[in-house]
Amino acid sequence: MTNNKRTVTCGQLDKSWAGKKVVLNGWVHRNRDHGGIHFLNLRDHYGMTQVVIDEDAREQLKKEAESLKIEFCVAVEGVVRQRPESMINKEMKTGSIEVKAEKITILNSCETLPFMIDEESEANENLRLKYRYLDLRSLGMQKRIKLRADLAFAVREFFDGRGFLEIETPTLIKSTPEGARDFLVPSRLHEGKFFALPQSPQLYKQILMVSGFDKYFQIARCYRDEDARGDRQLEFTQIDVEMSFVTADDIYEMTEAMYSHIFKKLMNIDLPSSFERITYHDAMNTYGSDKPDLRFGLQFHDFAPFVGKGEFSVFKDVLSDSSGAVKAMIVPGAAAAYSRKKISELEEEAKKYGAKGLAWMKVTADGFDGGISKFYQSISTEIIRGLGAKEGDLILLMGAQWKTACNSLGAIRSKLGRDLDLIDESKFKFCWIVDFPLFDYNDDEQCWEPAHHMFSMPQDRFIETMEKNPGEVLGDLYDLVLNGYELASGSIRVHHPELQQRIFNIVGFPKELAEERFGFLLDAFKYGAPPHGGIASGLDRLAMILAGKQSIREVIPFPKNNVGVSPMDESPAFVDEEQIKDLHLQVIKSKSPETQETK
Ligand code: AMO
Repeated sequence: MTNNKRTVTCGQLDKSWAGKKVVLNGWVHRNRDHGGIHFLNLRDHYGMTQVVIDEDAREQLKKEAESLKIEFCVAVEGVVRQRPESMINKEMKTGSIEVKAEKITILNSCETLPFMIDEESEANENLRLKYRYLDLRSLGMQKRIKLRADLAFAVREFFDGRGFLEIETPTLIKSTPEGARDFLVPSRLHEGKFFALPQSPQLYKQILMVSGFDKYFQIARCYRDEDARGDRQLEFTQIDVEMSFVTADDIYEMTEAMYSHIFKKLMNIDLPSSFERITYHDAMNTYGSDKPDLRFGLQFHDFAPFVGKGEFSVFKDVLSDSSGAVKAMIVPGAAAAYSRKKISELEEEAKKYGAKGLAWMKVTADGFDGGISKFYQSISTEIIRGLGAKEGDLILLMGAQWKTACNSLGAIRSKLGRDLDLIDESKFKFCWIVDFPLFDYNDDEQCWEPAHHMFSMPQDRFIETMEKNPGEVLGDLYDLVLNGYELASGSIRVHHPELQQRIFNIVGFPKELAEERFGFLLDAFKYGAPPHGGIASGLDRLAMILAGKQSIREVIPFPKNNVGVSPMDESPAFVDEEQIKDLHLQVIKSKSPETQETK
């Protein structure tokens, strides 16, 4: 770890070095003058070392120490000495020693900083991104980028051990239909034609299976022109996998083994040998989400059995429609703390997901109180026993179309999980979500859409009669969820051109368009394509969870901000007229550029 300019790093020294002469290189993290004695904290990628310029040091050395500003890049030559017992800093890896400086060389000065470089920055995020080179110097960012590198290494180590080949696929491709908008790259050589940046290597990895590579993986960069959010970026990285001659169980086993390897290696945590599997329907019905956070309870109950016996006509109306549902959630001991005002905050949250309102009752010693209590007072004992509620509990009730009821009560569940501090942050709770519907109905466009993508296999028992009721068809597709985040997604693929064509027909994808967009895949399937399947995990999301952060921007060296801009290099940016002309393009401005982006 040393080289010609330095003999040790700032994270290396301990008592065993006492009396030795060393040369350190690094940045001035702090410079304090304690009545004539200077203390410098010198920082590099490996850690921090305290450097002392004693009272009896040469005047010249003292002057030099005084002139050092924060983030000056310096070399310090000196002798290591053990600190007196009372001065040992147990928080610091090098806290048992300090270096008595004999010579200080300024390698480079530093202007006044836009923000302090602390382990965890308090600065505004856009400022941090504008001066990302400074932000990345913080010990927190250094640790997280190292974690990401260690993660990529662990992934490669795992797949290498299992005989997978890492194969690169192109990033200038024909558009891949993954559901988001493509980033397009105009071709200079072929007027009017465009490449697309891959939303994922989906079609190429399937072609690699047709080509006989059997077990493929790639740490692949993907690009999607969508709104950037906390766990989304315009460009992100997937751990992409595809295997031939497999069933979904093989993919589960391989993925569980990969995560076990990563967690053992990076966190020294032993994961269970297999993860819980929950059907999509049960996940929605019980947690109101297809990516449930299993670190806390607040499971839903079915309130329908009580609706007929009570007097609340709104719920009766909801159930008169066969797709209606009334769900109940018990919030233990929350009756006293949840005023009308606080409950209406929960209602607001539910309304964002399409709910019209939120009903509630508080459990008392002799029945119910508040909200819609009067409609159910006469059967309170039956309800309390049936739902397993206790005195002091708050019962929240949601009646709507099944999906809306689940989603909106799910949003309340997530909010309560956070507000009531129910989440144990030290836990990692994985689960598979299986048995997803293959198709979703788009009410706005009045058509069927693929729930995942168009290349996923229907489960065997639905294949013959798929067209009769596409909404009932379950797919051989699965998601892996960790702590409320969708971490990975995949499926067993269609490998027969005829079945693929039937799926295109159901989602109304015209034959000619299919031929034009991915005729090459359909053609490839005609040449003895093997059965195959795969999965892709979001590497950024995984790194974010491992680092205990809520935003993937904390684990990406140079991310875009929440409006899709890179404040450091100011991309996207205007280009020369000439460049645009070379690409045979013309820019039609719809708004003034200032209003299009918020920096
Ligand atoms: P999917 O689109 O579900 O599947 O993506 C797989 C995983 O990639 C991560 N991810 C993202 N991470 C950050 N920013 C984004 N914008 C973003 N979008 C997705 C998530 C997600 O679970 N080709 C299929 C996989 C397959 O079928 O094998 C695919 O890309 O963690």
